[in-house]
Amino acid sequence: MATIKVRNSGELIQGEENVRSFLEKQGVLYEHWDPKKLPERLQENFSLSAEDKEEILSTYESEIKDLAARRGYQTWDIVVLSEQTPNIEELLKKFEQVHTHSEDEVRAITAGEGIFIIKGDDSVGYFDVILTPGDVISVPEGNPHFFTLTDSRKVVAVRLFIETEGWIAHPFEDPAFVK
Ligand SMILES: [Fe+2]
Repeated sequence: MATIKVRNSGELIQGEENVRSFLEKQGVLYEHWDPKKLPERLQENFSLSAEDKEEILSTYESEIKDLAARRGYQTWDIVVLSEQTPNIEELLKKFEQVHTHSEDEVRAITAGEGIFIIKGDDSVGYFDVILTPGDVISVPEGNPHFFTLTDSRKVVAVRLFIETEGWIAHPFEDPAFVK
């Protein structure tokens, strides 16, 4: 279940309802899929074959189709990041820059952990959303953010897109952001 850390105040937000209502106020979609739906050999597995990835997508087919129908996503795939990913250090460095997209950024975590750092409204400022298997999040279009890994450096996620060009990153220079 997701945990939120507000950077300016140090406030920690936990529990599904608290997380959902905080994110809702910030315009961030948060949902939850059952992580136990995945066959055990695909849970916490980070060396996935093409068939394994297909199996993850078909396991969550009804959840994906439901989300896509509500929000207009046309394509989806699986992304895996781990120490085995070539150039993982460089990739993470590239990730850790505040940016925006012309469509929303949707991720459903199916294994491991990930963190979205998101710019909230002026009273909140930047906050971290730490995601674990089953967490589904959508950062609104145009909302400054970036994604990174936790110290375990492993994640598997479903990505959904409206159009494949929509997720091109536009750098967002923000003096209010403190690393
Ligand atoms: Fe992004």
